[in-house]
Amino acid sequence: MEHLNLEFVWDLDIVLMEDLSLHILDIAENSIDAGACRIEIIISDSRLEDTFMLRIKDNGKGMDEETVRKIRDPFFTTKTARRFGLGIPLLAQSAEESGGGLSIDSRQGKGTTITAEFRRSHIDRKPMGDIGATMMILIGGHPETDFSLDYSADGCSYRFDSAALKKELDGVPVNLPDILKLIRDDINEALRGR
Ligand SMILES: Nc1ncnc2c1ncn2[C@@H]1O[C@H](COP(=O)(O)OP(=O)(O)OP(=O)(O)O)[C@@H](O)[C@H]1O
Ligand SMILES: [Mg+2]
Repeated sequence: MEHLNLEFVWDLDIVLMEDLSLHILDIAENSIDAGACRIEIIISDSRLEDTFMLRIKDNGKGMDEETVRKIRDPFFTTKTARRFGLGIPLLAQSAEESGGGLSIDSRQGKGTTITAEFRRSHIDRKPMGDIGATMMILIGGHPETDFSLDYSADGCSYRFDSAALKKELDGVPVNLPDILKLIRDDINEALRGR
């Protein structure tokens, strides 16, 4: 490996990953690359228990045990365009910096579940960011993929499911700009103040 200034790359991505919605975008793109047609995003946010959990579950091709072992290494990627893969290591770092951690459950041919846990009140816990915009970008870019978002917080819960919406739309494309904006606004309205 010739000179790659990892310090620089690391800093650059940290600047870009300033909130959890950007991590979600990044991790969900891994699921798309793995051929998933269903991606579930689950957020459990508890002030009472001082925990924040983010889980991204896909039905993509999954990984073998060796890949799962290597995945936290920033120099591990199966992409050919460049020789480092930072999505997972950066989410692991964000979780660990706020008193939590990352776990990966993956089965070949079945799918992958990535879970990041955070101490909610930790000073370094990144804010949620614009989850509505993240969902809008994912659905707009991959209208054929089904995305769901489940948010629960100490007794209250919210669910969005693009598969159900597509059924209701009855053939009208889900990635029309006005529909994407409605999705974004509905999600952000539900999560406002969180
Ligand atoms: N959901 C997933 N299903 C199958 N393989 C995955 C999944 N997520 C990650 N991987 C594997 O782990 C590797 C590392 O993922 P990571 O997100 O850290 O980096 P990357 O996607 O290769 O690059 P970057 O995220 O920086 O664009 C991927 O190249 C892929 O081989
Ligand atoms: Mg990635």
